[in-house]
Parts: sequence; structure tokens; C-alpha cells
Amino acid sequence: MKKVALTAMTLLFLSGMAQSQQKKAQPQKKEAPVTQEEVIKVLTSGLSTDPRFVWKVQQDEAQRICSQYTSREAMPAQAVQKVIQLSQSGIRYPQWGIFWGDWREGKKIVDNPRGGRFASYGFSDSPTDRGGNCYACHLIEKGAPGGTMGPNLYQYGKKWNITKENMNSPEALERVRAVYNIIYNAWSAFPCSSMPRFGHNGAFSPEDVMNIVTFLLHPDSPVNK
Ligand code: HEC
Repeated sequence: MKKVALTAMTLLFLSGMAQSQQKKAQPQKKEAPVTQEEVIKVLTSGLSTDPRFVWKVQQDEAQRICSQYTSREAMPAQAVQKVIQLSQSGIRYPQWGIFWGDWREGKKIVDNPRGGRFASYGFSDSPTDRGGNCYACHLIEKGAPGGTMGPNLYQYGKKWNITKENMNSPEALERVRAVYNIIYNAWSAFPCSSMPRFGHNGAFSPEDVMNIVTFLLHPDSPVNK
């Protein structure tokens, strides 16, 4: 008898649980959909009002276009073209144009994981401490562990057919410029990519980008060994 009562109680308890869960799953009264403005308001309310940060939560035109689609594949050709055009038009080059920089300097930025921090805002120990955190998403040097969200960049110079013999030809320098554009603003080649728009966001100077490109492409760089 005792056993039966217990079982009955357990059943009651369980059915009560099921009921309360059911209740929770039922939709409450209908609420108006959250607007873009409301989202931005919540986002910005928790952040600094320092103008150096405020722009980070304001969408630019390219981001507005990307946000309308679930993927690049879902974008109409016109939208893709618009993002590419907006991204290309903002690219700035070093004042002396495309040149071979210093791959060792480029490597320092590529290896540094402290990406996206603004020097002199109190987050950074040193004003020269700027990082691409490239290994979070890429495999780069031989044997070095890295992410797989982006393509493997080991031997990237060979992919672009940069050799000791041709590296200063106008054709090779045009290919260097193409890679410069990818690092400065990845959306100029891969619209709405998850790769950060480093130059566009002011994280790297044109000279930084040139050094990174040199690290990726130069025949002497460990990337191409
Ligand atoms: C958050 C992830 C992420 C980070 C960080 C990142 N990338 Fe990428 N990268 C990608 C993705 C994803 C792609 C592929 C582009 C696409 O299809 O969207 C890519 C593409 C590239 C390409 C073009 C490869 C090709 O197919 O020719 C290069 C070069 C590159 N990244 C270099 C870098 C460098 C250098 C850094 C650091 C300064 C970096 N990436 C940081 C995600 C990232």
C-alpha cells in the first residue's frame, strides 16, 4: 500500500512538472518585435561614451547590407558588388605605394593575439602592442598550431607565384597589392567575411599591412619555407 501511494505521488509530482513545463513553453502575450534602434540602445548603454569606441557599435553601410542576409551565398549579386565597391573605395596605401616591407615586423603583428585593442586606452601595456590574432583563424607557419575558420596560409607566397626571380616585376607587385587589399579590408575581396577589416577599422596602419603582406608572401619569410 505504502509503495503504491509513493508511486502515485511520484506520478503526481512528475505530471505537475510536465504541466509547469508546458505552461512555460506556451507563448506569453504577443510582444512587438525588437527594433534595430532598441538593440543599439541596449548595446551602447553598457559601453563607454568615449567617441573612440562609440563608432564600434554603429553599423556602416557595408555592415547594414551584410546584416540583411543569412550568408554571402544568400546575397543578390548587386548587394555583393555594393559591399565590394564600398570596401575597395576605403583602402589607403602607404604614401610611397606598394613595396616590400619587413617580414619580421609583420610576423610580430600576426603572432600577437591582442587584436582589436586600442593602445593608450588603458587596455594595452605598450602603444606598439597591436595584434592581428591571425592564428585564431588560420594555420600559417609550418608546425605552428592555428585555427581553421580561415584557409591555411602556409606557403601563401607560392599560391600567388611570388619567387625570388619575379618578386619585383610589375606583375608580381600587382599580386602583392591584391593581398594588401585583403588584409586592409577583407570585405573588398570576401564581402561580409568574418575576417576583421583591419585597416578599415584603424587597427593597423598602411605600413603595418605592408609588413604583414611581406610576411605572407616574401620568399625569405618562414611562411614560404
Ligand atoms: C576571425 C577569424 C579571422 C581572423 C582573426 C583573421 N582571418 Fe584571415 N580569413 C578568415 C576567413 C574566414 C577567410 C576566408 C575569407 C572568406 O571566404 O570569407 C580569411 C581569408 C584570409 C586571406 C585570403 C586567403 C585566400 O584564400 O587567398 C588571407 C591572406 C588572410 N585571411 C590573412 C589573415 C591575416 C594575416 C590575419 C591577421 C592579421 C587574419 N587573416 C586574421 C578569417 C580570419
